[in-house]
Amino acid sequence: MSIYSIYFSPTGGTEKVCDIISATFSKDYKAIELIAAEDDFASVKLTQDDIAIIGGPVYGGRIPGVAMERLEQISGGGAKAVLVAVYGNRAYDDALMELKDGSVRAGFVPVAGIAANAEHSIARTIAAGRPDKDDEVVLKEFVEKIKEKIAKGETGLEVPGNSHDERRKDSAMPIMVTEDCNECGSCVDECPTRAIPSDAPNTTDAEKCMGCMRCISICPNEARCLPKERIEGATQMLMKACPDRSNNELFL
Ligand SMILES: Cc1cc2nc3c(=O)[nH]c(=O)nc-3n(C[C@H](O)[C@H](O)[C@H](O)COP(=O)(O)O)c2cc1C
Ligand code: SF4
Ligand code: SF4
Repeated sequence: MSIYSIYFSPTGGTEKVCDIISATFSKDYKAIELIAAEDDFASVKLTQDDIAIIGGPVYGGRIPGVAMERLEQISGGGAKAVLVAVYGNRAYDDALMELKDGSVRAGFVPVAGIAANAEHSIARTIAAGRPDKDDEVVLKEFVEKIKEKIAKGETGLEVPGNSHDERRKDSAMPIMVTEDCNECGSCVDECPTRAIPSDAPNTTDAEKCMGCMRCISICPNEARCLPKERIEGATQMLMKACPDRSNNELFL
């Protein structure tokens, strides 16, 4: 039996949550990142003896279409799946249902769903520093309960949210690039949708950009950003709509 941690994590929050969960199953887990557009996801094949932790970030209450498209290229082979929707303190709406539907299409057998919190990748002061020590304790308790369910051989799973016929249409963000860009090219290689041209890395192709914030978070010169008003507006809205710390939730 192998433990797989399969995630799409542009700014690292989903990865941190999946790492905590996967390492609680076994220190010896295999990470499959769904970030690089060129990777051959169809060559990843699991078996019914395996357990997969499948994580995606919540965008507008759903999982990014790019992430679902890559996940569904993998062959689940009957592996048991722990679904993890990672959100920035507001809401996860249909994200767990979308992960459930997509993982079943890919041949996984969902056994548990987790809605977990991580720092908001647009408004970074929202849920800043999460997942934190308290989250870690809760997530580890969740894993113990999931292990009990698996040991009993139970597999059914109900999660909240609506199903969708179409994948989410991801859309661009108004990314700005300042004079601090020295054209190092890091963002060109790291962009999950290849929206940054190698011959002009101080630009962004809005047709291809999925608004994931990865280029902003990885730029070594902090040359990429959103307009200040955009971040401030989002922060105000989120603080008003969800002033309290959101809890992590487990579905079995
Ligand atoms: C385009 C976009 C839309 C988002 N929509 C939501 C949302 O609907 N609800 C929420 O709570 N957080 C939302 N977030 C915050 C992310 O879900 C959260 O920061 C997540 O941890 C990002 O994952 P990552 O760090 O793996 O990239 C959104 C972030 C982005 C970039
Ligand atoms: S990572 Fe930053 S400095 Fe490097 S090319 Fe991209 S924007 Fe410019
Ligand atoms: S250009 Fe768009 S899609 Fe590419 S890393 Fe930046 S925000 Fe994400």
